[in-house]
Amino acid sequence: MSVLHPFTDRLIRWQKLSGRHDLPWQNTRDPYRIWLSEIMLQQTQVATVIPYYLRFLEAYPDVLALAAAPTDDVLALWAGLGYYARARNLHRCAQAIAAVHGGIFPKTAAQLAELPGIGRSTAAAIAAFAFGQRGAILDGNVKRVLCRQFGIDGFPGSAPVEQRLWALAEELLPDTDIEIYTQGIMDLGATLCTRGKPRCGECPMAEDCVAKRDGRQGELPAARPRPALPERSADYALITDGQHILLERRPGSGLWGGLLVPPEGEASAVLARLGLHAETTRTLPPLKHTFTHFRLTLQPTLCRVSPSAALGEPGLQWVELASAPDAGVPTPIRKLLRLVASAPD
Ligand code: ADE
Repeated sequence: MSVLHPFTDRLIRWQKLSGRHDLPWQNTRDPYRIWLSEIMLQQTQVATVIPYYLRFLEAYPDVLALAAAPTDDVLALWAGLGYYARARNLHRCAQAIAAVHGGIFPKTAAQLAELPGIGRSTAAAIAAFAFGQRGAILDGNVKRVLCRQFGIDGFPGSAPVEQRLWALAEELLPDTDIEIYTQGIMDLGATLCTRGKPRCGECPMAEDCVAKRDGRQGELPAARPRPALPERSADYALITDGQHILLERRPGSGLWGGLLVPPEGEASAVLARLGLHAETTRTLPPLKHTFTHFRLTLQPTLCRVSPSAALGEPGLQWVELASAPDAGVPTPIRKLLRLVASAPD
């Protein structure tokens, strides 16, 4: 008999005292009822599942009745629960149990996991609830509970983190009371250790919870890492006579369509194109801006020209430096213009 981990001990006590005990799929050992509930609960909350579950049982009281039903009827009864691949797999699974297993659910998690729509975690849950078999579950709720309790960093959907979580989930298993423990870890994740506003004040695990201790409930479990955005960079010539700045209206479509921006391009090239001569030029610190699809580094160069310099191109206009930040310019450009307006030299 291995020693009970304090987490496991507390969870079992909490479940006996405060967990859910009267959900329609509890207090039965019928694998059909348990399987049906676990498939419905895979991506859907208890309150939504209950009426669907009851209607399904009424229409199909056992796995053979479900196997014999037309697929369209099964899908119609499922309508509204979402993730319809679950309904197709549910029907296929019932047919496999009818055809391959003579209408009797296999009794081990390994055999259950070979059936359509039953992954490792669901197989373990069914085996625990229907057959009292000892095995770890690891659905989204359980991942969240474990990541927070044990302070596990990294995206739980990544292979190394998931592997670590499975190992931990196995380590925590009790030798007895597997049904209570399994329902407990599910219920803790569904009712207290929720994603948005965990109710740590009521949690029996709060004392040992790493996320609670470090105030990291909002960071754990870690979000899926976003793919790095492509990086672009653009030079801008901030041409000023001390009172005004030269802005150019962008074409109507594309990035910053129709807005005013300083001429884009390397300063010496811009000055040459416009037939302007700079008295001084100064490189300003780059500014980063993130768009939905890329990151832009703006490289500004401040160019001081003599007052009332003539313009060589249409589409350009001198705008008062003081009002330029509010002249219909994009956000990162506004930041640059504020900088120039406050220190035009
Ligand atoms: N989510 C997945 N399985 C569940 C169960 N048996 N009870 C409550 N929520 C669940």
